[in-house]
Amino acid sequence: MDRTKIILNESEMPRRWYNIMADLKTPPMPVLHPGTLDPIGPEDLVPIFPMALIEQEVAQDRFIDIPNEIVEAYRLWRPTPLIRAKRLERALETPARIYFKHEGVSPTGSHKPNTAVAQAFYNAKEGVKRLTTETGAGQWGSALSFACSLFDLDCMVYMVKVSYEQKPYRKIMMQTWDADVVASPSMHTNSGREVLKNQPKTSGSLGIAISEAVEDAVASDNAKYSLGSVLNHVLLHQTVIGLEAKDQMETAGDYPDVVIGCVGGGSNFSGIAFPYIRDKLAGRNLRAVAVEPTACPTLTRGVFAYDFGDTAKLTPLLPMFTLGHSFVPPAIHAGGLRYHGGSPLLCDLVRKRLVEARAYDQTDVFDAALVFTRTEGILPAPESAHAIRAAIDEATDAKNQGEERVILFCLSGHGHFDLSAYHAYLQGQLEDAEFPDEALHRALEKLKGVSN
Ligand SMILES: Cc1ncc(COP(=O)(O)O)c(C=O)c1O
Repeated sequence: MDRTKIILNESEMPRRWYNIMADLKTPPMPVLHPGTLDPIGPEDLVPIFPMALIEQEVAQDRFIDIPNEIVEAYRLWRPTPLIRAKRLERALETPARIYFKHEGVSPTGSHKPNTAVAQAFYNAKEGVKRLTTETGAGQWGSALSFACSLFDLDCMVYMVKVSYEQKPYRKIMMQTWDADVVASPSMHTNSGREVLKNQPKTSGSLGIAISEAVEDAVASDNAKYSLGSVLNHVLLHQTVIGLEAKDQMETAGDYPDVVIGCVGGGSNFSGIAFPYIRDKLAGRNLRAVAVEPTACPTLTRGVFAYDFGDTAKLTPLLPMFTLGHSFVPPAIHAGGLRYHGGSPLLCDLVRKRLVEARAYDQTDVFDAALVFTRTEGILPAPESAHAIRAAIDEATDAKNQGEERVILFCLSGHGHFDLSAYHAYLQGQLEDAEFPDEALHRALEKLKGVSN
């Protein structure tokens, strides 16, 4: 059947998340306590996460049941459509078949609620009253604000000051879901006050915002901290994307030759790709391509090392590709991809060559976004447009090779709050950020002595 949209019934939504740990022959290296350099244990995480999520972080079971309350919340927007990009295929005159999983249909406009809803549920169940988090561009803060409103939790969002000032609509959206949103650095925490004392005019950073959110949670009796990517339990929750996509691709009568996703911390890529990598581990021929910006080339140019997840060195040491925790990426428009490290689980798969990594300049990415918008009609988030760029390149390569390649990518979000970036592009004012070797060496220098 030659369908454009493949839509599952609510009753066909997955009832279990997939945990790739069960299928890895050798596990990723452990996360370390920065003081003792011993692997961290559950007790180290208790002050910041509820027990159910700590258990999922180290779980070895292949499948983990999705509680009914989460399934019911997912039903507000899931299952999401799988769309065959026929108009894009025609415009590219490619024999490739291109499919995308549209995660931009969620209430907040991205894949982030898949884990926000789960995290809010488990926290509420264990009696937590308030969640704290940081947000850069605002997608994650919006998702957690929405999720907290579903489970009657208070939500405190530390929003990087530059975004707070430049993206007032994201802030208003979060406030509509009743979240408290403050510009970070703020006067609410010691770490915020300390930064403001020394740099009163700072525009803030994700690193500082993480420090504030963690400090707030730890100092409060009834609050915990919530993270929107990187950790195993977040990737686990996102596998609902790939599990649905597999069923939908089967309905379409196709199986992908290549699965593509953009990477910030790794959650949407892993969400769509891990259920397919399970098949690859069992011998199936398939490529998985992770796409990042050249301005923040963690997987393609970073070193594999133990490093902190935040600038203020509050987190455990994570084994990952990193540009160094002090690295401040240039202010490209794909704010959600400006992270110095990446998920240890995903980095492990890149090291094992189960996942390929690729980087693009932002002007090439916006060129692809425009081709997509003018064929498929959807205005993609700048982050998601990285995956579109790779899908278009794969389709063009298939044409040159005369191959009927089947391409599946994750459209992780829409770009309705990113219009200033599109404005800059349309005015011809968008520039590629330089990323000189020298800057990389300087950031990596600061890594020395972190874990040895
Ligand atoms: C729309 C969108 N896509 C992708 C990302 C990257 O995050 P991750 O790699 O965890 O999917 C973000 C992060 O904020 C985002 O907002």
